[in-house]
Amino acid sequence: MAKAYADGMLKYGVIGAGTHGENHIKCVSAANNAQLIAIADLNLSRARAMAAKYGGREVFEDYRQLLAVEEIEAVSIVLPDHLHRQGCEEAFAAGKHVLVEKPLATSVEDAEAILAAQQASGKKLMVNWSNRWMHSFAQTKAALDAGDLGDPLYCYARLNNTLFVPTKMLAWAADTRLPFWLICHRYDIARWFFKAEAKRVNAVCRSVKLRSMGIDTPDFYQATVEFDNGCVGNFESCWIMPESMPYMVDSKFELICTDGYVNVDAALPDFVMGTNEKATNKGVLYGEVMGEPVGFVNQSIKHFINAILLDQEPLITGHDGLMITKALAAMVESAEKGEPVDL
Ligand SMILES: NC(=O)c1ccc[n+]([C@@H]2O[C@H](COP(=O)([O-])OP(=O)(O)OC[C@H]3O[C@@H](n4cnc5c(N)ncnc54)[C@H](O)[C@@H]3O)[C@@H](O)[C@H]2O)c1
Repeated sequence: MAKAYADGMLKYGVIGAGTHGENHIKCVSAANNAQLIAIADLNLSRARAMAAKYGGREVFEDYRQLLAVEEIEAVSIVLPDHLHRQGCEEAFAAGKHVLVEKPLATSVEDAEAILAAQQASGKKLMVNWSNRWMHSFAQTKAALDAGDLGDPLYCYARLNNTLFVPTKMLAWAADTRLPFWLICHRYDIARWFFKAEAKRVNAVCRSVKLRSMGIDTPDFYQATVEFDNGCVGNFESCWIMPESMPYMVDSKFELICTDGYVNVDAALPDFVMGTNEKATNKGVLYGEVMGEPVGFVNQSIKHFINAILLDQEPLITGHDGLMITKALAAMVESAEKGEPVDL
């Protein structure tokens, strides 16, 4: 069993203090072996509020000022999907290790540019597909590696959001696509399980509901991916479920193997708490217990901090990010063209 914390004190900056940036700020500030030095966000009052809540000596509107702080060794980039390239390139040019939120990028060109910047800097890069730290997926991976399930053959993966996400939570929904926002989580898991790359992608999407609301991004995608070792994955996501749902995420994952079967069904939240205003999922996968962050996002950020302090390669590398970006970009291309895309 690995030690929970590597010794040391990683000096840290967080770029992007929005909904998910807060989780990075919270987890870094709670880590025993990291020190949150600075937070940057175009919305300076938001950055200030985060620093007041979680600590952080300095706040900046322009993240280049954060990158100029010499003592900062590593940064989280928690900017909107389509801005990851500029944040990563500048962070590597400033000599920082980078934990970039999923997806690595929204185009193959951007992903390749990020990898080139990383290689030129010699610093480490991890893409935060934190769902690998969900106990269901982590245990399935361990069972596959132990040979308990035989060989994987096929998976079905669904990950949906309510309409709240593209209409109220994100100001930039039209700048991304569901393969990059949601499907990427499950594609990363499937590729990790299958130990293979996409060979042929056949996808469809439709734009009805969101387009009628003035947000030009498809409502749903459905993609079938044939991998180069014969495995097949079926991936589907929508983000137009009604807001009345008790939880803004709906998820199901099935894995068929030669000697086993796995069903991860999070369609029904494990722990719902209702107030007079709303009911929410307070599941154990994510959140706080006794004032400390718990769950998969906290564990993935801790993994990155430990990897940097131990000078080890993080679990999800830039190469993983690039290969995943190629498959996700092929889903978008296939759905637009109405024909399969070979990789
Ligand atoms: N791993 C997960 O489970 C998970 C969950 C949610 C979001 N994410 C990812 O995290 C990233 C951020 O998503 P979010 O939901 O926090 O979005 P958000 O819109 O809530 O936050 C983005 C923040 O970036 C700031 N920003 C935008 N441009 C900037 C710039 N040029 N300089 C400085 N700040 C700038 C905005 O002011 C905003 O505060 C996305 O890539 C998203 O896909 C991952």
